[in-house]
Amino acid sequence: MKQPKRFTITAALPYTNGPVHIGHLAGVYVPADIFARYQRMQGADVAFICGSDEHGVAIPMRAKKEGVSPQQIIDKYHGIIKQSFADFGITFDNYSRTSAPIHHETASQFFTTLYDKGDFEEKVTEQLYDEEAKQFLADRFVVGTCPKCGYYESYGDQCENCGTSHNATDLINPKSTLSGTPPVLKETKHWFLPLDRYEDFLKEWIIKGHETDWKSNVYGQCKSWIDDGLRPRAVTRDLDWGIPVPVTGAEGKVLYVWFDAPIGYISSTKEWANRTGKDWKPYWKDENTTLLHFIGKDNIVFHCIIFPSMLKAEGSYILPDNVPANEFLNLEGAKISTSKNWAVWLHEYLEEFPNQQDVLRYVLTANAPETKDNDFTWADFQARNNNELVAIFGNFINRVTVLTHKYYNGTVPKPSDFTEVDIQALKEMRAYPEVIASSIERYRFREAQMRLMDLARLGNKYLAEEEPWKTIKVDGDRTQTIMYVALQMSAALAVLSEPFLPFTSEKLKQQLQLDQQNGNKLTWNQVSEDIALLPEGHPIGDNQLLFSKIEDEQITAQLEKLQSSKEANKMTSSNVTPQKETISFDDFTQLDLRVGTILEAEKMPKTKKLLVLKVDTGIDVRTIVSGIAESFAPEDIIGKQVTVLVNLAPRKLRGVESQGMILMTETEEGHLVFVNPDQKDLFNGATIN
Ligand code: MF3
Ligand code: ZN
Repeated sequence: MKQPKRFTITAALPYTNGPVHIGHLAGVYVPADIFARYQRMQGADVAFICGSDEHGVAIPMRAKKEGVSPQQIIDKYHGIIKQSFADFGITFDNYSRTSAPIHHETASQFFTTLYDKGDFEEKVTEQLYDEEAKQFLADRFVVGTCPKCGYYESYGDQCENCGTSHNATDLINPKSTLSGTPPVLKETKHWFLPLDRYEDFLKEWIIKGHETDWKSNVYGQCKSWIDDGLRPRAVTRDLDWGIPVPVTGAEGKVLYVWFDAPIGYISSTKEWANRTGKDWKPYWKDENTTLLHFIGKDNIVFHCIIFPSMLKAEGSYILPDNVPANEFLNLEGAKISTSKNWAVWLHEYLEEFPNQQDVLRYVLTANAPETKDNDFTWADFQARNNNELVAIFGNFINRVTVLTHKYYNGTVPKPSDFTEVDIQALKEMRAYPEVIASSIERYRFREAQMRLMDLARLGNKYLAEEEPWKTIKVDGDRTQTIMYVALQMSAALAVLSEPFLPFTSEKLKQQLQLDQQNGNKLTWNQVSEDIALLPEGHPIGDNQLLFSKIEDEQITAQLEKLQSSKEANKMTSSNVTPQKETISFDDFTQLDLRVGTILEAEKMPKTKKLLVLKVDTGIDVRTIVSGIAESFAPEDIIGKQVTVLVNLAPRKLRGVESQGMILMTETEEGHLVFVNPDQKDLFNGATIN
């Protein structure tokens, strides 16, 4: 017998510093679940793996804020997150956590193997140190200007604006997030993964090997990092939260969370294998296994560059075949934010829309940020439910089952001769398994789900044209055939909707008593065969409502809820950056701020965020590079008067020297706006003081 195809499917391990929201679901877990369910239906051997990422630096920070221990934080959110995934039908084969002993062992062992082979560079370097907090600063503990895009609040390890990953010491004007003070440099020893040694391998494997099969957003990011040149990355940290570095003389040091977390996929697979009596190794070491990482775009560098280099260094592991990363989902036009409570939390959704998991899954897939950032709005949620799920899918099934009960006491009727129309309809129906599969296999889940809905549309069209409610009065035989065909389509929908709408599929199968048929389960591919999915004489169950209309009041309530978290944000000062240290009047007068006018603006080639501006400062016309391309189109800002810091030391961004800075601020929703003189009669070069 042919071996079934083996898949190891991982979904990014969520940080346990808060519950999960619709952004997580849309970006990672729903697409991964659709894929895993689909492959299982194809008879594949699937390990769908996830768990909680419990060593993130935001965790001890959150603990401090809530006045509890980090352990209490991870226990609380691990529980909530795990439950949310189960509630939404995310069918992980294992959901572990990185605080589990098996993970500590696996990650320590992995480090030791690389250490023993001499794969790390051990270096004493100067790192940022907060003298007030008496702590080394890396990652989220430090912010500063991104050396690549000029974003002024980049984190130590990664810029949220342009996605670049860098070292904390690369930041321009770094500032401690603990005390707000500028850090000093202090020597400390760390172990570095020399990514530069893997450049050739990465070029061969990604740039040459995956140009056509990886998504262009993923491929493009990887290529740009590799082209920029890779540098050694520290894989240890001076912190007390994490997995201790398993080397003598490394007291007080832990593994960098991004070193240990992806190993969590392996430990979670081991935990699963132990629990089920399987061998974990083929899932990670057999070349015939397809390894896939489902992630969000901020995780690309870690899954495509760093983790594969670790696996390559270790030597006995396979590499991912694909990393289908998604872009971000926004909510009502603004970036989803845990700290600003600008989110739809899964556990809260379920309280307000009980048993309507599939509606959210459906809407998130229909709007999945597959190729660009996308927006979730409650109005769209309502419209898709009412106009698509209720009016198309639900309506078709409802008509079929109601009429079957009414005309035939709930039994599939015997068809007589099929007309051309019937034959054509059945033929079209039988093409869907392949059509949908082909989209899923190319990670195009929106498209796949759209095709599924086309099948429901086909059913509606068929009924509308054949009109069994009219033929019943004149032609019993014809009516039986029509209803027979429509019932086959209902069965096809029950099977093919399973990856997308698992709860609905289950309900529908029960209603059609599909699984009782021949005592076994219809497979995906059987829908393509010239067989009776529901044979004549097969009894169907009582009517059940698959979807129900969502009323305006429910939507208004959700919008009000969001509005109130917006207001709460305004009231609390928690989002307001604390006041900086007092400066002297002299210090202030050193800043030379002027009114200027933007004369020209164009996009910096090959970047998303940067605009190259020519600004008339009254003193001269100079070039300023500004990270505002996502908020403004070049043509819209030409002629605009702005505030310019003219005596900032020039610096190069992407090879272009920027001679000053335009003052910007952010609205509540996170949109960039100019700090605008907004007055008539101001002349360029006017000083601001
Ligand atoms: N916790 C990370 C995040 O939410 C993802 C970790 S994925 C893993 O961005 F590979 F490290 F596990
Ligand atoms: Zn940046």
